[in-house]
Amino acid sequence: MTVTAMFRCAVCGEHESLATPLSWRCPNSSNDDRRHVLMLEQPMRPLRGTGDPNPFVAFRAYLAWDVLAESLGMSPESRDSLICEVDEKVALVAGTGFRVTPFGRNDGLSDALGFSETGGVWVKDETHNVAGSHKARHLFTELLHLVALERAGKAPWGTQRPPLAIASCGNAAFAASTLAKSVGWPIDVFVPAGVDDALEQMLLGAGARIVRCPRRDDDPPGDPTVHRFREAVANGSIPFGVQGTENAWCLDGGRTIGWEIADAQERVSGPPLDRVFVQIGGGAFATDLALGVFAGGLRPRIHAVQTSGCAPVVRAWDEALKSGGTRNAGSRWGECMWAWEDVKPSLADGILDDETYDWIGVLNVMTDSDGSPIAVDESHVREAYSLAHRATNIDVSPTGSAGLAGLLAMRPTIADDERVVVVFSGIRRHFMPKPS
Ligand SMILES: Cc1ncc(COP(=O)(O)O)c(C=O)c1O
Ligand SMILES: [Zn+2]
Repeated sequence: MTVTAMFRCAVCGEHESLATPLSWRCPNSSNDDRRHVLMLEQPMRPLRGTGDPNPFVAFRAYLAWDVLAESLGMSPESRDSLICEVDEKVALVAGTGFRVTPFGRNDGLSDALGFSETGGVWVKDETHNVAGSHKARHLFTELLHLVALERAGKAPWGTQRPPLAIASCGNAAFAASTLAKSVGWPIDVFVPAGVDDALEQMLLGAGARIVRCPRRDDDPPGDPTVHRFREAVANGSIPFGVQGTENAWCLDGGRTIGWEIADAQERVSGPPLDRVFVQIGGGAFATDLALGVFAGGLRPRIHAVQTSGCAPVVRAWDEALKSGGTRNAGSRWGECMWAWEDVKPSLADGILDDETYDWIGVLNVMTDSDGSPIAVDESHVREAYSLAHRATNIDVSPTGSAGLAGLLAMRPTIADDERVVVVFSGIRRHFMPKPS
């Protein structure tokens, strides 16, 4: 039996074809009810990269985008060449195009944490990915979707491109602005009223239009930047962010990181990977990383890491356990996931999303791998940042090293010969505190 690749809503079960243009959200998602998320159902094995240095070319055949592009009448060759053409434009703006990023055992970290020679810490280094974090990987399949529609003459906007929109003031906004600039597409970035000057300068430098979003008296609860973003989308802007609830196509390209890890593992001998510690903000990163790794036949335990001052996914795990289990908990959204009431500041400020939008995927990958979530204290966040800089030569940010904080916290329960993965997901920007 051939299984057709498709999107399926993890909440209401609605299906959506991958050949549907602009299929960002579940058809049952509305302005009043955003508690729907389309997740990819794709037969995957065996996973075989072509060896191309560009991961989107190497794993093109596994992308949902490939199904869309084929349905638009594009041949495999023209799909590859479109990826390369857009990638070259990205490289002109970002200084690099998409390339397979480094992955390997880090001896310094492994020694510092007392692992044996067969065990240790494996680091996937995203600090030199496009725009300095993993975020651009999620966004690239959204961009390819738009560009392929234009090429096929199927874009409903003709020559008047609607603006892209994103609510973020961190790595996602910078990556989105960088990609938008590379193809000359206007983008509105919805930021908090008190956005940091240095961050704003970085976004302006990438060509973004900044929309400051003070809380309005008549605003419903929740983040005002998200309210303004949704209004813009309702008025015709294209959602261009990294939350599966707002644009499910972000869940496509993010898997390339996991595919690269699985592909690299194919080529080394020794026991398989035992655990992955991954920092969680909105949750798309962890979902995709794990699904990508699983696609290669590996099943390391996935540990979702949040700070103890903002841990909605850790709470969701506990609530789901009480209310029917942690797998496919989407229909119990209201019982499991709600905004964290009292977010405490942290050095890892990129993962302080008060709601984990892609929580269903995060719970599923932990369940399927016998993993678990962990809320870490600020002392572990700080120690992880400092250790990452002492033991490696990777200039990672505090958010990018937050997964390591989870490993530090759980190290006493982990055997010395286990193989543990962390992803250093973002580079330290000049305005971030120096590690101690
Ligand atoms: C460097 C870095 N790592 C990890 C994350 C978390 O990714 P996600 O929001 O998809 O959970 C973020 C989010 O902003 C980030 O900037
Ligand atoms: Zn739905």
